[in-house]
Amino acid sequence: MSKIRLGILGGGGDSLIGVVHRIASQMFDKYQIIGGVFNPNWKENYDFAKKIDLPTNRVYKDFENLIAEELKLPENKRMQVISILTPNFLHYPMAKKLIESGFNVICEKPLTTSYQEAIELESLKNEKKCVFAVTYTYTGYPMVRQMKQMISDGVLGRIQKVDLQYYQGWINPIIHDSEKRTNTWRLNPEKSGISCCIGDIGTHAFDMLEYVTDLKVSKLLSDLNYMYDDNPMDVDGTILVRMDNGSKGVIRTSQIATGEENNFTVAIYGEKGSLKWEQENPNYLNYLTENKPFQILKRGNVYNSDFAEDGVKIPSGHPEGIFDAMGNIYKGVAKAINKEKSFSGEYPELSDGVRGMLFIEKAITSNNNGNIWVEL
Ligand SMILES: NC(=O)c1ccc[n+]([C@@H]2O[C@H](COP(=O)([O-])OP(=O)(O)OC[C@H]3O[C@@H](n4cnc5c(N)ncnc54)[C@H](O)[C@@H]3O)[C@@H](O)[C@H]2O)c1
Repeated sequence: MSKIRLGILGGGGDSLIGVVHRIASQMFDKYQIIGGVFNPNWKENYDFAKKIDLPTNRVYKDFENLIAEELKLPENKRMQVISILTPNFLHYPMAKKLIESGFNVICEKPLTTSYQEAIELESLKNEKKCVFAVTYTYTGYPMVRQMKQMISDGVLGRIQKVDLQYYQGWINPIIHDSEKRTNTWRLNPEKSGISCCIGDIGTHAFDMLEYVTDLKVSKLLSDLNYMYDDNPMDVDGTILVRMDNGSKGVIRTSQIATGEENNFTVAIYGEKGSLKWEQENPNYLNYLTENKPFQILKRGNVYNSDFAEDGVKIPSGHPEGIFDAMGNIYKGVAKAINKEKSFSGEYPELSDGVRGMLFIEKAITSNNNGNIWVEL
């Protein structure tokens, strides 16, 4: 079978996430990168395409031009799926036009800058019936998939407490300098949307919680921190959650946790046992019970589920990481495009992105109304 023709918007040489998508897309030999718009500046766009040895005939000046030119090509030559890796405010206009024009889409999170835009995309997608993934990257880790499987198999029994922490420190050197904080797109509502910390990393934790437990957050109460009166964006927040099975828990997020790098931890406590996973140590899953010693499950072993092991490429003991997790998501999307059999939850869908936008808006609403409980 020929490779899926992939186009990329954003993710240029100056970006954080571009290289992760480029490498991930090549991992299972399913995609060929055909072209795209890597940068709004034409010279940088063109030079970057040359640097990665991409023929420049399908490197376009902007996304409107890309769509117009690609639609002139016969369907068997045209890009089949396009990844959107730009700052948040461009996700909605790009995704909307791509769905309307018949392309499949892989979009970075947060899906849009408002819940309203997200539900518009969802109804458009339902009408056009395309494949649409939202890259909550961490759901691609084998041991996260193992966690999901064990919870679904009832290994933990009834879930009674959830605790997710996502702590970073990268905004600390920026937030105390008024010039730096005005020049950072994640702290600019026009580029980022209504939230920084909750939108950027809180959404990962929220998605992970609903993904691994298969429960829904039914209510939340948030307490956000903006640090300075002239800073319009949250940089830290604690959110109490109630799940639809009645259990309670907390999502703790921060970008001013000085010295923290990407400390995302997920702890799910059930009446029969508990599971804990750490993003900075992703090849291990900690399994706690009352009457047996603490166990560490490892990636690449036969005792894991077929779903967990599906994305493992090298034997146990050889660490895999974020590129591999994203690679597994691209693999799931490839199966959907090729209409092949896949596992449930193999890639995060548009509906997960919509839930993420609802979560962001409700977290802001709760905080702005005096830290009240709000329903999702
Ligand atoms: N899934 C994850 O774990 C993860 C991690 C990091 C970032 N992200 C998301 O990825 C997106 C990009 O984040 P980043 O940190 O890579 O941003 P970045 O600022 O590092 O890079 C953005 C890229 O988009 C390009 N760009 C800007 N405007 C463009 C336009 N009009 N047309 C084409 N390209 C354009 C820039 O040139 C740059 O290459 C954000 O939505 C962010 O939330 C997700």
